[in-house]
Amino acid sequence: MRHLISPLDFSVEELERLLNLANDIENNPDKYADACKRKKLATCFYEPSTRTRLSFEAAMLNLGGSVLGFAGADSSSAAKGESVSDTIRVISSYADICAIRHPKEGAALVAASKSEIPVINAGDGGHQHPTQTLTDLLTIRSLKGRLDNLTIGLCGDLKFGRTVHSLIHALVRYENVRFVLISPEELRIPEYIREDVLKAKGVEFQEVERLEDAIGSLDALYMTRVQKERFFNEEDYIRLKDFYVLNKAKLSLAKDDMLILHPLPRVNEIAVEVDDDPRAVYFKQAKYGVYVRMALILTLLNIEV
Ligand code: NCD
Repeated sequence: MRHLISPLDFSVEELERLLNLANDIENNPDKYADACKRKKLATCFYEPSTRTRLSFEAAMLNLGGSVLGFAGADSSSAAKGESVSDTIRVISSYADICAIRHPKEGAALVAASKSEIPVINAGDGGHQHPTQTLTDLLTIRSLKGRLDNLTIGLCGDLKFGRTVHSLIHALVRYENVRFVLISPEELRIPEYIREDVLKAKGVEFQEVERLEDAIGSLDALYMTRVQKERFFNEEDYIRLKDFYVLNKAKLSLAKDDMLILHPLPRVNEIAVEVDDDPRAVYFKQAKYGVYVRMALILTLLNIEV
């Protein structure tokens, strides 16, 4: 039995197969319409979510399966003090596969260790978000045609942003990928990623504070929201929340074919005026999230169509 807890749980070759499957699903949805008949997906979300939970549910419904679950810790027995380990043991006998989101780092790993069904990490605190990474990889590969030879800018809350952490882990495995890490001093990438991932692998990267200084060199710009819920005090959040606002003026410095990605939700970091620019692909990205989650469910359930 396989789980998806970290973006490194799939080899580059397995990822290639998964992304190919996602593209085939996009082009031939009818072929997959009954692939998960009588299978059930449980979504156990202890933290707020719109896209991740609903795209998982849409994915399972598109495959002919059913969904069950809860959308907040308050509406589950967590509110009574039940542990994740106990909850997943029970869910194992109700569903065939489970996607879990939890505010604590490592919660999905704990769940997987006690589970009798495949567990998918749908976000564990400020740590990882591997299915967002699958979405990001599918988006970049589909729209750029490659995952190697790219200069990727990651901008915003690089400290708490789990989507950024997972994406870096995944992308360092491709040839000639360079990173420009754009953040205020206080929201720089965690030390363990700088040292153990980027430096250890000899990946080319630079850290800058001004978006204007970096934007011109990028093939893709990954904007992120300042992660309000992970701050220890509100003052810091308020001071940092509008540090970056991508608007038309800044975008005029970028390459004509630079992709603008964002895992969403967007707050103020991308001005609405940017949405109509052909380079803005964040809503398309959310759509790719459904195809890739369909491919993931099929892969983890070992279903071949
Ligand atoms: C992200 C998350 O939950 O980490 N959202 C998502 O799943 N698309 C990013 C965020 O909340 O800022």
